[in-house]
Order: sequence, then structure tokens, then C-alpha cells
Amino acid sequence: MFDLKAYLANKSSRINRALAAVLKTSGKPDRLLEAMSYALMAKGKRIRPILCLAAAETIDGDPQEVMPAACALEMVHTYSLIHDDLPAMDDDDMRRGQPTCHKAFDEATAILAGDALLTLAFQMLSSMATNDHNRQQAFKWLRAIQLISHAAGYCGMIQGQMLDMASERKDLTLAELKSMHRLKTGALIEASVSCGAELVGVNSTQIHMLENYAQKIGLAFQVTDDILNVEGDPEIMGKAVGTDERRRKTTYPALLGLAESKEFAAQLVKDALRALDAFDQKADPLRAIARYIGERNH
Ligand code: IPE
Ligand code: IPE
Ligand code: MG
Ligand code: MG
Repeated sequence: MFDLKAYLANKSSRINRALAAVLKTSGKPDRLLEAMSYALMAKGKRIRPILCLAAAETIDGDPQEVMPAACALEMVHTYSLIHDDLPAMDDDDMRRGQPTCHKAFDEATAILAGDALLTLAFQMLSSMATNDHNRQQAFKWLRAIQLISHAAGYCGMIQGQMLDMASERKDLTLAELKSMHRLKTGALIEASVSCGAELVGVNSTQIHMLENYAQKIGLAFQVTDDILNVEGDPEIMGKAVGTDERRRKTTYPALLGLAESKEFAAQLVKDALRALDAFDQKADPLRAIARYIGERNH
């Protein structure tokens, strides 16, 4: 029986070590680096970098080989959280069990720490490309930059965040909500899986199946985030709940009700598992992560 708890703990500690090393080599400690580290090294689930490593393992690749991409994904994600919490956006006080970056430092420092994490991610990936003398391998790092920047920027997460802000106090249809969620959260989750697979040499049939899997869990992840914002425990989650309703955001529970939202998340997890049918036991981590996304309490 696959032990997900042990797998997540093992991968998280490897990722945390790699992230700490990136920060350590980036500059000498100052207030900016302190703010970056404060947000990045806080207790996050590391689900995007873990998906990246697990996708590489699924097609028999070495997860350590894709670690720079895993780190980049977590840095981009953390930057998005710092900015998402700012007063101009969701105006939240708690994140990952501690005061948000702008509360612990100040707004300007939080904005800049987010900017710095975003750019550092791509500085790191582009160094992987230029330092690799194997042209084919160098090209794969370039592809990782393309996948992550596409998912994080105008065509993905940022567009989703823009729609999310515009959707406050406005009724969205289910189709509009789904498309907003896919951009806001799904895109980076999808890039995490494809990056891990593409960096270790996936074939076209495999990538198609993995993309299908990632699409389903990406949406499921945000549906559960919406559910947890209604009925989650702020102590366990490390962030406030009830905030979506207060800001009159359109969410799955608001549109479908809690019970139907849960059914929808469960169906997405089933679809994700079906997408992996053709893979052997090396896909067990991805399978277990899909189930976890449907059942998570934080
Ligand atoms: C929170 O992401 C924001 C969403 C995109 C739903 P996570 O739930 O992955 O947050 P951390 O990284 O564990 O803090
Ligand atoms: C978080 O989204 C940020 C991104 C998805 C980029 P939300 O605002 O929905 O998530 P929480 O509830 O603050 O973590
Ligand atoms: Mg938000
Ligand atoms: Mg938020």
C-alpha cells in the first residue's frame, strides 16, 4: 500500500532543502531576502513541486533532475500568495500559519519580495539552460521556462487573478467560474505536472494522459479551496475562512451549494484517476495525490 504521508514528508523536506539553498546563494541576508525567505520557507503544502517530482517519477525519470523546476514552481506560487494577500487584493492577515508578508514586514517590502521571488525563479531556470552543455538538455530547461511563464502570466494565473478580482460582487455562470479557476489555480498545477514529465523525456501519448490528469486535479484543488473557505478550520489551514462570502466572491459552494461542490470535486478526482489508467505503479504517487486533493482539510 502506497504511503502518501511518508512520500509527502520526504519530498517536502528535499524541496525545502533545495529552496533554502537557492535563497542562500542568491545574496547576503538583508531585509528583502528576509521577507522572501519568510514567505517561501513558511509551512506550505509544496503540492506543485511535489507534483513536478511525482510526474517525473511516473515516467521513470529521476526526480532530483527536475528539482530546479520544482523550486521555481514553488517560488512562483509563493509570490502569487504574497501578492494575493495584499490590501489591494484579498487583504488577508494570515497565511501559512503566520502573519502575511505585508503584515510582518510592510506593503512595499511584500510587493518587492514577491517580484524578487518571481524573477529569481526564471533566473534560476535560465541558468540551468545556459550552464548545460548538452544542447538537448538545455532546450528542455527553455521549455520549462516557457511552460511556467505561460501558466503564471497573462495567459494563466495573472489573468485568473484579474477575473477573480473583477468577479467580486458579480454573479458568474458556472462556465465562467470554471474558466476562472482553471486560469487562477489550474494553470500552474498543470504546468507542474507537464514540466516534471517533459524535463525527463515524456512521449506524446503519456503527456496527453498526464495533461488530462493535471487538468482535473487543478480544478479539483480550487473547488476544495472554495469548500474549505466555507467549512475549514482556520487553525489547520493557517489562513482565515469565510472570506470569500464576505467579499462576495463567486465560488463553487456559492453557486452549487456545499454538497454538490463536494460531489463535483469527487467526480474530478475520479476522472483524474481514470486518466492514469494506462500507467503502472510508478504513477501511484500521482494517484494518491489526486485522492488527497479531494479529501484534504488544509
Ligand atoms: C493556496 O494554495 C492558494 C490556491 C491557489 C488555492 P495552497 O493551498 O497550495 O497553499 P500552500 O502552498 O499550501 O500554502
Ligand atoms: C490564491 O487564490 C492565489 C492564486 C490562486 C494565485 P485565493 O485567493 O483563491 O486563495 P487563498 O484562499 O487566498 O489561499
Ligand atoms: Mg484571491
Ligand atoms: Mg486569497
